[in-house]
Parts: sequence; C-alpha cells; structure tokens
Amino acid sequence: MASHSTEDRSQQIFNRQLLLFASKLSESPSPDISIHLQQGLSKRERLKALLESKLDFHGEDSSYASHNLHSFAAKFPPQLPRVFIRGLTSPGDIVLDPMMGSGTTLVEALLEGRQGIGIDFDLLALRLGQAKTRTVNLNNIQDITNKVLQKAHHYLSGGDKIDRSLSDFFDEKTKTFINYWFLSRTQRELMALALAIQGVAHEPTRRFFELTLSSIIVTKSGGVSMARDLAHSRPHLDKAKIPKNALEQFLFRLQKNLKSVGRLEASGGVASIIAGDARLMPITNGVIDLIVTSPPTPMQ
Ligand SMILES: C[S@@+](CC[C@H](N)C(=O)[O-])C[C@H]1O[C@@H](n2cnc3c(N)ncnc32)[C@H](O)[C@@H]1O
Repeated sequence: MASHSTEDRSQQIFNRQLLLFASKLSESPSPDISIHLQQGLSKRERLKALLESKLDFHGEDSSYASHNLHSFAAKFPPQLPRVFIRGLTSPGDIVLDPMMGSGTTLVEALLEGRQGIGIDFDLLALRLGQAKTRTVNLNNIQDITNKVLQKAHHYLSGGDKIDRSLSDFFDEKTKTFINYWFLSRTQRELMALALAIQGVAHEPTRRFFELTLSSIIVTKSGGVSMARDLAHSRPHLDKAKIPKNALEQFLFRLQKNLKSVGRLEASGGVASIIAGDARLMPITNGVIDLIVTSPPTPMQ
C-alpha cells in the first residue's frame, strides 16, 4: 500500500508539472522534457507518459553519427529509440532490438552509453549493424583507399578483366537486370571497384568498403543506377538521368561514412550483433532492460 501511495503522489506531481508546462506552451511536451519530469515514476508510468508525449520527429536531423551510412527501407527516426532509451534505461543497461534492420536502436544505445544487442536474419541488416556500431581501424585507411582507387583505375584503363568478370559473374537473368538499370560505363566502373575492394585483406575494412559501394547504388534517387525512388518505394527507370562517375561517388561516400563512424568513438557503449530469428530467441527474465523494435510491415 505504501509504495502504491508513493506512486500515486509522484504521478500527481508529474501530472501537475505537465499541466503547468502545458499551460505555458499549449503544445504537448517534448519527450526530453517529459523524461526530465518523470523522476520517481515506475517504468510502466514512464512508458505511458512517453507514449503520450510528442513523438513527431518530422524535420529533425536524422543524419548524425553513423545513421546515414546506407539507405534502408522503413528505418525509424533515431530520435524515436533515443527517447525510450533515455527515458526508460540508465547507462550500462541492456537494450535489445530483435528485428534491428539497419541498427538504428543499436547506434542510439551506443551513443547513450548502453549495451545494445541486435538480432536480424537479413544479410544487409547484419552487415549494416556491424559497420554502423564498430569503428573501422582508421590508421592506414588513407593508404587502403588510395590503393583501391588506383587498382580500380588500372582495371578500367586496360585489359579485359572487367569485361570478363561482368560476363562470368552473372547468370543471364541477372545480366538482363543489370543492363536494364545500369549504363554500360557504370557497370564497368562498379565492377572495377568491386574487384579492387576484394583485394582489401582486413575483413572489417573490406566490409565497410563493400557497404560504401552498395550505398552509392541503393540510394533514393541520386545513386549511380538509372533508378529513381530506389531506397523506399517502387523504383522506376529514368532514361534522362545521367549517373555520376562511380569512382568519384565512392570516394565521396567513403569519406563521409568514415567521418560518421569516427563520431561513435567517444560513446562508451557496446553493441553485439547476432544473426538469428527473433521468434526463436531465448529470453531469460530480468536480463534485458528495454526492447525497442519495429517489425516488418506486411508489404516488406
Ligand atoms: C522495419 S525493419 C526494421 C528497421 C529498423 N527499425 C531500422 O531503423 O532500420 C524490420 C526488420 O525485421 C527483420 N525481421 C523480420 N522478421 C524477423 C525475424 N523473425 N527475426 C529477425 N529479424 C526479422 C527484417 O529482416 C528487417 O530487417
């Protein structure tokens, strides 16, 4: 009974503070302000208050830290997991996203000094989760980048390695697909980069380069294919589009992506990425402090 009346009292204080706040601003409180006012409430009450707060992040920057490394369908705005992580957990707590997609929850968990666990069965999701939460070894990255680009230019400037690879790597159906979406020049540039990246010995760095290569293709409209609206809804062919040079785009994106993971370093959190099916996930009571997830929609 005693704890019940303490909860009632803190709920009343919280409600009064919200009313005071509301009378001053007439808008619903921002989630951060809600969190500030919630001290002393149970987790369930805090969750309720957060769910009733303003959770519209339209127009807010979602490109900070490593969030924009690569496009991904149905990403949620990073502010959304952040609100619940801040409001419902403390530094060091364990946050799980059992269908992590591109790892938005994990990046936020890291930035907030929590331990993030992410599960997914999609290969792109797993690779993205890893790249977005691990800093690559930046020591000799400039050397490796230069070597990759030199090699790609070398492949493009002579010999038949690229044409042979384009012919040998893909079956007829894939070739038809590639010919539909990519100019022949772009196909050669992408193959030159792919071959050069294969030569990067350090696996995390190679994976990072591969994702960067993918990110110049899978992007809403500005990528190196002839597609528009690729990352989100239905891609369509734009015959008037003049795709940019893939090598230049790769270098541009690589520099951007490296800067973005560099910003994760000071966070103090840790992330574990697990390949698996959320439906088979073992959960022991009391281990996970918070689950934040967005399951696929029926269209996905
Ligand atoms: C809507 S996306 C999640 C997007 C994520 N919130 C983000 O910000 O990037 C849903 C994800 O759930 C994954 N998924 C669907 N069913 C799953 C299952 N049974 N186990 C693990 N992952 C699953 C899909 O592979 C997909 O990556």
